[in-house]
Amino acid sequence: MVDCPTRTMKHLFGMADLTAADIYHLLEMGESMASINRRNIKKAPTLRGKTIINLFFENSTRTRTSFEIAGKRLSADVINISASTSATKKGETLLDTAQTLAAMQPHALVIRHSVAGTCEFLAEYLDNTVIINAGDGAHEHPTQVLTDLLTIQQSLGDIAGKTMTMVGDIAHSRVARSHLVAAKIMGYHVRLVAPKTLLPAQVERYGCEVFHDFDAAIPGSDMIYMLRVQNERLASSCSFPSVREYHEAFGLHRARQALAGDHCLIMHPGPMNRGVEIATDVADSLNSRVLNQVENGVSMRMAVLTHAINAKPVAAVAAVEEGDDDED
Ligand code: CP
Repeated sequence: MVDCPTRTMKHLFGMADLTAADIYHLLEMGESMASINRRNIKKAPTLRGKTIINLFFENSTRTRTSFEIAGKRLSADVINISASTSATKKGETLLDTAQTLAAMQPHALVIRHSVAGTCEFLAEYLDNTVIINAGDGAHEHPTQVLTDLLTIQQSLGDIAGKTMTMVGDIAHSRVARSHLVAAKIMGYHVRLVAPKTLLPAQVERYGCEVFHDFDAAIPGSDMIYMLRVQNERLASSCSFPSVREYHEAFGLHRARQALAGDHCLIMHPGPMNRGVEIATDVADSLNSRVLNQVENGVSMRMAVLTHAINAKPVAAVAAVEEGDDDED
């Protein structure tokens, strides 16, 4: 993570801010946090006295809620602000809003915004607050990828050497971009499957394989990672002809899942468009890890908040947490 100049805290803008050692450390912390989330009393004192502001300028169910739960389970004070309730509605600039909130001395701002690079931009002006990227335009979504890595590790062990086949609207996906960066750091292979209209220019520079035939990409995949297709894009663009044809060529349905074999995990960051990029019976199948990804989102965001705000060795965190729970 990037050092925050005036405190011993670290920003998280994208996956390149992390080394492989950082990621393994966060995954270890995430496993430790997962045990808190499975207890009856889901509370640890790790971030007691810390203040976290979730500042979301785009819709979110999973990321916003899991950051809120993560902060609260670690005893932080958590405040949620959305675009619809912020003074940006009255014409205040994003920078004025962020500086106003930073003047209230929070320890962290968790930010989602539709513009790529928002977090880095704000960090230039906010000396005293750690910034965590909760998704910036089509740029990056690092905490989603950390969540995915924990989910994969729990089912398949070490991610190094595994093959992820990622399918759908790659061009507009911040999750895809973060995985492409993470794959280089952690040593996993990414195959991208999409129509040419939904691939970014020069995507091969990430060292991934590119396919336009989904069936050809499936053999040897350890996980198939489906990406959301925006229905509004289907209606208004010529990226592909129709929902039915998209589902046939690039959707994951039962016949295609059978090609992948029993070992292959099915993943999706959500929200899913059932019947478009993924069939309902596949989304709900035994190999689907969609809800595990959601559950791990809380654990990994607990790990990221702890690491960013209040770095502590994993063993120390676990010891405090075990001592704190006298119910189980
Ligand atoms: N995966 C993800 O970012 O979902 P939300 O938009 O619901 O936060």
